[in-house]
Amino acid sequence: MIFVTGGAGFIGSNFVLDWLAGGGEPVLNLDKLTYAGNLANLASLQGDARHRFVQGDIGDTALLERLLAEHRPRAVVNFAAESHVDRSIHGPGEFIQTNVVGTFRLLEAVRQYWQALPATEKEAFRLLHVSTDEVYGTLAPDAPAFTEQHVVEPNSPYSASKAASDHLVRAWHHTYGLPVLTTNCSNNYGPYHFPEKLIPLMIVNALAGKPLPVYGDGMQIRDWLYVGDHCGAIRRVLQAGRVGETYNIGGWNEMPNIEIVRTVCALLDELRPRADGQPYASQIAYVQDRPGHDRRYAIDARKIERELGWRPAETFATGIRKTVQWYLDHPDWVAQVQSGAYRDWVATQYGAAAARA
Ligand code: NAD
Ligand code: TYD
Repeated sequence: MIFVTGGAGFIGSNFVLDWLAGGGEPVLNLDKLTYAGNLANLASLQGDARHRFVQGDIGDTALLERLLAEHRPRAVVNFAAESHVDRSIHGPGEFIQTNVVGTFRLLEAVRQYWQALPATEKEAFRLLHVSTDEVYGTLAPDAPAFTEQHVVEPNSPYSASKAASDHLVRAWHHTYGLPVLTTNCSNNYGPYHFPEKLIPLMIVNALAGKPLPVYGDGMQIRDWLYVGDHCGAIRRVLQAGRVGETYNIGGWNEMPNIEIVRTVCALLDELRPRADGQPYASQIAYVQDRPGHDRRYAIDARKIERELGWRPAETFATGIRKTVQWYLDHPDWVAQVQSGAYRDWVATQYGAAAARA
């Protein structure tokens, strides 16, 4: 079996669903269920014995030791993190606690477990750490995209905490020989994306008739990766990545934010026109810029293509259409996330079992 952390969040839940849909081994899923964790994302796995959910913290050493000893995973995939830049600006403490201290505790528990494994299992074991392109800092407009050799220059409390975790993972490999893999990916989008991030926020605000807040001049550039493609890349790295290596994962889709917002608006105009016939783009509102806002990220994903034969299947045009359609098709999910009702759903669905585990 594999041990996934943060598997009730946006990317983690997509990964668990994809993994099991593709016939992967059983999954032990450890998630603290912060505001970003949502068991409703995994509702389709209800009653599926291949998925075991445990509510808990990657910083809880005793819990980690117990779970590792009991379930004996052949791999750990670490998605658990505080992930929102704006929240990290308002309150960086949790980011240090989970992303830095939590990763450290996870590495230590996994190291103890791995060291005691019999030789063949020890040889095959992997810990895959999921990280971000934001660790590399910001790029000038004409600078080449981030390669795995790019200097690490994080600029936000979030990216600094992720860079710190990447360094710890690297050190645990070099010092202790722990068989790690690190992936640094660009901005994901797709189903189950919490509507505090750009794309889902624009979709839900547009439909609710609310302003679409664009920071600064809207000309900040990101690379956009469809979450299903990201999941496929992680599976591939886990399967064939070289131990101790880092792989950048990108969608080959660099775009300024305002273009993203206009694309979302145009799709909604087509798929769910406003009752008054006005375009959704009329709701765009330029607002004060984010402090320290990185101007441009771009991923050079040639290493993973060259070594592992992975390329994204989706273009931005195909991925964003699927995404907008998904949100239109899942108004209940959106309403539940926005109302916070999914917290009650946890108690109803999993009852005392989740709380006890
Ligand atoms: P998310 O915020 O949607 O999900 C994070 C999950 O981790 C949540 O379910 C949360 O409950 C859980 N969690 C938080 N603290 C925890 C703790 N201490 N112990 C156990 N679980 C905890 O984030 P996401 O967008 O799914 O991102 C997953 C990973 O991918 C993160 O490591 C993030 O840094 C990285 N990443 C995300 C993006 C993106 O565009 N979303 C891009 C690059 C990298
Ligand atoms: P976000 O989805 O928060 O991801 P990240 O900051 O990790 O890249 O933001 C993506 C881009 O969109 C980023 O440049 C900030 C910008 N943005 C807005 O312009 N308005 C918004 O309301 C949000 C949430 C983000």
